[in-house]
Amino acid sequence: MSASAWPADLLMRDFRDRKVLITGSSRGIGAAVARAFADLGARIVLHGRAETPALRDLAASIAASAMHQPAVVTGDFADSNATRRAVEQAIAQLGGLDILINNAGTMMGRHPAAGLAEATLDEIISLNAKSVVTAAQQAFPALRDSPVAAIVNTTSISARSGGSAGSLAYSGAKAFVSTATRSLATEWAGDGIRVNAVSPGTIDTDFHQRYSSPEKLAATAARIPQKRLGRAEDCVGAYLFLASPSLAGYITGQVIEVNGGALMP
Ligand SMILES: NC(=O)c1ccc[n+]([C@@H]2O[C@H](COP(=O)([O-])OP(=O)(O)OC[C@H]3O[C@@H](n4cnc5c(N)ncnc54)[C@H](OP(=O)(O)O)[C@@H]3O)[C@@H](O)[C@H]2O)c1
Repeated sequence: MSASAWPADLLMRDFRDRKVLITGSSRGIGAAVARAFADLGARIVLHGRAETPALRDLAASIAASAMHQPAVVTGDFADSNATRRAVEQAIAQLGGLDILINNAGTMMGRHPAAGLAEATLDEIISLNAKSVVTAAQQAFPALRDSPVAAIVNTTSISARSGGSAGSLAYSGAKAFVSTATRSLATEWAGDGIRVNAVSPGTIDTDFHQRYSSPEKLAATAARIPQKRLGRAEDCVGAYLFLASPSLAGYITGQVIEVNGGALMP
């Protein structure tokens, strides 16, 4: 085997036929991660809030080229019962679970702190913080049965920076995700489950099309040492690495920052 072939070969061995649920994979970062797992031979379940054309198109496009047909589950992760149901259905479809990618989330608008309504705060926390715990709890028995169990959560650069104006609830929720990653890693290490997180910086997905003006994004890109925004594909390697038992088998409770140097520890 040539030296240049070994990473793909190794990842194929790690992920082929593995059972992977990627939440929030209808588009953006989750879609890129899902496609990579499928390309590496994993059995994947895609998830979106609802059955959208984007989710259907992605499933069809993956089905056309991947080794296994992807399954699809839906559910609003601001609702704990819907979160539990979606994870339960995914595990039933797969007949178990090896890897949970907890990625569903969004800012739900910009809400200046002084006027942040309690109901909005609750909803943002429910979607971005509580759902990560609920999904992990629902996945726990199946993951405990896997010899290569891993959870990779999606936190954010804003968990550490506090985010830009109007993102208090979202940034706070992501800080919870970073901390919960470490708590779960400690509690579940004895059960053979590794728990890590990826922390994207400013990644050019629908997320920012919705919540940031082109001027704000251009100014952000100019401040980043690598002088550009990230792409969904820029995040994929960190998820694969953290999920890989060969590459990251002794890594748990860690957060990998993917931000072009925008924030350094
Ligand atoms: N883009 C960035 O700069 C950035 C930076 C740091 C962290 N992140 C985090 O990275 C993750 C992915 O973000 P992205 O940029 O790829 O965003 P995106 O393109 O907006 O995709 C968000 C994904 O989450 C799902 N989702 C949103 N609200 C949901 C709800 N209430 N219930 C269930 N699913 C829901 C969406 O499903 P539908 O298509 O059905 O709505 C979609 O699959 C999120 O956790 C986000 O907070 C992003």
